[in-house]
Amino acid sequence: MKVLGIASSPRRGGNTDLLLGEVMKGAASRGAEVKTIILNDLKIAPCQHCDGCLETGRCKVEDEMQMVYRELEDADRIVLASPVHFMGVTAQTKAMIDRCQALWVRKYVLKLPPLGNRRERKGLFISVGGRKIANLFESALATVKTLFRILDITYAGELLFPGIDEKGAIAKHPDALRQAFLAGQKLVED
Ligand SMILES: Cc1cc2nc3c(=O)[nH]c(=O)nc-3n(C[C@H](O)[C@H](O)[C@H](O)COP(=O)(O)O)c2cc1C
Repeated sequence: MKVLGIASSPRRGGNTDLLLGEVMKGAASRGAEVKTIILNDLKIAPCQHCDGCLETGRCKVEDEMQMVYRELEDADRIVLASPVHFMGVTAQTKAMIDRCQALWVRKYVLKLPPLGNRRERKGLFISVGGRKIANLFESALATVKTLFRILDITYAGELLFPGIDEKGAIAKHPDALRQAFLAGQKLVED
């Protein structure tokens, strides 16, 4: 089983990175093949709405999103980790998600499987935010759940931690990293 981690924060070694690392360790401890990509290191242009994908379901923009499409197609489990930025996912995450419009075309226009085949995929979402307010994750959840639904990725759950701001603060949370490790194990066992 292949697990793809998508690190979507610009802050290396930050809170979502630490949580993602534990999820991947948990998955690996159950025998999964794990791989993490760091969106901030990739050149991914925002969708240009050029409609270049409308006839083929393939994006015409030749940048590193082409590699991300292949990784998504190869994965059985996808773990998306993004902190809250201005009440939504990070710009890095949103650029990648908008480029999945080509996969929306595959599914809804061309009536093809969005990720190339119909094998079961599951997705987990990880997020943190500095504030402690009721609707902190609402917008990010709506975006990520929509992505997973459109890509036929079953939503397997989430790890959400409010009130986590300083770099590395998540390590001081009583059991967040443990929760993440266990979530990684569960993700590949189910
Ligand atoms: C550009 C930017 C926007 C942010 N917007 C929010 C926000 O709307 N709400 C919030 O609670 N925290 C916000 N934060 C704080 C981050 O969510 C918080 O520092 C988080 O721990 C960062 O996670 P990371 O270490 O994985 O990058 C923002 C941080 C940045 C840099």
